[in-house]
Parts: sequence; C-alpha cells; structure tokens
Amino acid sequence: MNLAPSLLAADFGNLRSEARQVEPLAAYFHIDVMDGHFVNNLTIGPPVVNTLRKGLTRPFDIHLMIDRPLVYAPRFVIHPADIVTFHVEAKDDPASTIETIRKMGARVGISLRPGTALEAIFPYLGRVDLVLVMSVEPGFGGQAFMPQAIERIRTLRQKIGERAITVAVDGGINAKNIHDVVAAGAELIVAGSAIFNAENRIAAMRALFSAAQQTQ
Ligand code: DX5
Ligand code: ZN
Repeated sequence: MNLAPSLLAADFGNLRSEARQVEPLAAYFHIDVMDGHFVNNLTIGPPVVNTLRKGLTRPFDIHLMIDRPLVYAPRFVIHPADIVTFHVEAKDDPASTIETIRKMGARVGISLRPGTALEAIFPYLGRVDLVLVMSVEPGFGGQAFMPQAIERIRTLRQKIGERAITVAVDGGINAKNIHDVVAAGAELIVAGSAIFNAENRIAAMRALFSAAQQTQ
C-alpha cells in the first residue's frame, strides 16, 4: 500500500514546504486540478504545478477534474514516473486523451465519479496504468467516504486480474476506513484532510499505514 497525500488540504500559500513535510512517507504528491466546469471549484493549474516541482523528489499524481484534458494536460511539465489522471466523464474523447498523456511521457490514469457505472472505463483498461476510484463526489476535500466504493474496488480488482494496473482510491479516507479499502484491493491511497489537518502529518501518515495493516 502506498500513500499519496492530497495537497488540496495543504496550505496553498506554502505548498512546497507543506509537500516537503509529507515527502518522507509519500509515494506521490496528489495534485487536484479543477476548472470550475467539470466540478464547482477552482484550484491550481500548470503554472503553479510546474514550479512546485523544484526541490521535491516524489513524482506527481495529477488528478485532472477538468472538462478538456486534451487541451490542458500537455501544459504540465512531466517527469517519467508521474501519473496524469483524467475523468472518463470529461468532454474529450478518452482514447485520444490516453494517447496524448502517453505521448507526454507520463503514466496514464483514468477516474470516474461515484455515480458512473464501472463499465464505463472497461474499454480503456488495456491502455491505462491506473484506475482512480472516487469515494466522494469530486470537487472538494473533507467529505465523508462513500462506502459503496468498497464493492467497486473489489469488482474492479477482479476485472483487472493479472494486468499491471494500479487501483487507487480518493476521497474521505481516514484511519477508520483505510483497512477495508486496502482489503478490497486498493494499492494507492489518496488522503487529504486525514493528513494535512493533523498537527503532525508524519504521525498521521504512520497511523494510516498501521490502520491499513491491522487485521480485524
Ligand atoms: C476531491 C479530491 C480529493 C481530495 C481528497 O475532489 O479529488 O483528492 O483532496 O481529500 P480528502 O482526503 O479530505 O477527502
Ligand atoms: Zn483527487
């Protein structure tokens, strides 16, 4: 199991130093890009994300909650271990988006809203490196985990079989539910408020790791 702290819950005025605090236990930095169209919220885009990189060592896991990934994804400066994830519900054609992200040199992730049938992403499974299962309605941090995500993770895991596709989960993850999420088959856990709202972020991350491992 790996953790990707979501910087959405960090202090946006001090993004780099916030990121540095969690870096020792982070596999990726999860960066939520929102356009005010795909979701009712606006965050940061390529100028901030590209400059944030300086001095950070972990790869970026860029979660595009935007209508036009084909237009904006190429504006991100990519390192080879980065993941760029788009939504299957976005306006652009998923197959072309996958090809574009691949050409940028990033690993490709596909995500879907909690209300979208899992089958919507099945046609693309052969072409992606990661599936990001949303366990909240995308748009805001700090929302309650939707338990239906557990069954979706399990079904997805079965469908993936032996293929080398990472199952990631995003939204409302905390020390109470992380065990079930990991037991269902999620390997990359995105957590925002559970990490950044804590006084000691590293202690919060350790608590997530140990809760994930606990047998119940
Ligand atoms: C929500 C974002 C999430 C969010 C998670 O649209 O995609 O990455 O930051 O935050 P928490 O862990 O607080 O639900
Ligand atoms: Zn996210």
